[in-house]
Order: sequence, then C-alpha cells, then structure tokens
Amino acid sequence: MQNDVQEILYTEKQIQDKVKEMGDMISRDFEGRNPLVICVLKGAFIFMSDLVKNISIPLELDFMAVSSYGHSTKSSGVVKIIKDLDIPVEGRHILIVEDIIDSGLTLSYLIDVLERRNALSITVAALFDKPARRTADLDADYKGFVIPDAFVVGYGLDYAEKYRNLPYIGILKPEIYST
Ligand code: XMP
Ligand code: MG
Repeated sequence: MQNDVQEILYTEKQIQDKVKEMGDMISRDFEGRNPLVICVLKGAFIFMSDLVKNISIPLELDFMAVSSYGHSTKSSGVVKIIKDLDIPVEGRHILIVEDIIDSGLTLSYLIDVLERRNALSITVAALFDKPARRTADLDADYKGFVIPDAFVVGYGLDYAEKYRNLPYIGILKPEIYST
C-alpha cells in the first residue's frame, strides 16, 4: 500500500467487478441508442477506460475537462470548462462518466451545459457517490459505491495531481492535506 494512504476502501478486484456490473446494465439500457459517452477528465479516465470495455453495444466517446477544485479538497463551486467536446451533443443520448459526485456542483453545471446544447437525453454513471456534502439536488443513474465523507484517491482520483495511478481506491492520510 502507498505510504500516504491510510486505508484501502475498495480493492482493484472489487472495483473491476462493480464496473463490469455497471457496463452490463448500460449495455442493456442503451441498446439501439448509440450513446455519446462523455468522460469528465481527469478523474474519470481510468473508470471510463474500464467501463467502455464492459459495454457491448456501439457507442461513441468524447472527453471534457472541467476544473472546480484546484489543489484544495473542497469544491469552490466555480466550474470552468478547460477542454470542450469535439462531437456535437445535439439530438444525442448522452452518458456522462464521472469519477465521484461530492457536492454535485460539477455535475449540475455539466448537465445544464448539455441541456442547453439540446441533448436528447442525459444519463449519469458515477463510480463513487459521497452524499454527505451534497448541495445540488441530483443523483447518478448508475452508481458504483456510496462512500463516507473522506478524501479518497486512486483509480484516477488525485490529490494535487498525485495518486491517480493507484489501482485501488484509498483514504488519504489527513496529515497529507492538512499541512
Ligand atoms: P463536486 O463537489 O462538484 O465534485 O460534486 C466533483 C469533483 O470533485 C472531485 N472530488 C474528489 N477528488 N477525491 C478526489 O480525488 C475525493 O474524495 C473527491 N471528492 C470530490 C472530483 O474530481 C469530482 O469530479
Ligand atoms: Mg480532481
């Protein structure tokens, strides 16, 4: 285990099993709809990669980068598009792939943007849900794990751009970000 990690919440195997389940459900539900799957960078990049390998129907994918946190562990509430989509969303069934929903501000902003661009439908797959600090009134359609109010890293998630490469998800030692 990485030295800065206090506890492993979910192992690589537990995550893989869950992602396969989510992929199976999405394959069934989106049959015949050719969804446009949107990865919210950077945190969702590993989840996106594993998830689409478990989706058996035709789809297209694209990437969007937003920033809300900077190097803090709390959302600033201000969301900025750093990299926009290449593929038009008008008339498309959209599946947003998010790493984690915390306050929900990032996601509600994204949904708003995609609605204004006339998406036909918007569905959300989030690997982790941290409901404790939710301020926006929303929920994921496909949810991996509900987790406690702790700052987690690994499997794409970072603290100050570190730990994204850990294959598991773990709770960071508080002294790492409180100093
Ligand atoms: P909001 O608050 O807008 O936050 O729902 C969503 C984004 O915040 C990041 N986030 C985290 N990143 N460990 C992380 O590495 C966490 O525990 C955590 N909580 C929120 C994440 O980028 C997510 O997309
Ligand atoms: Mg982040």
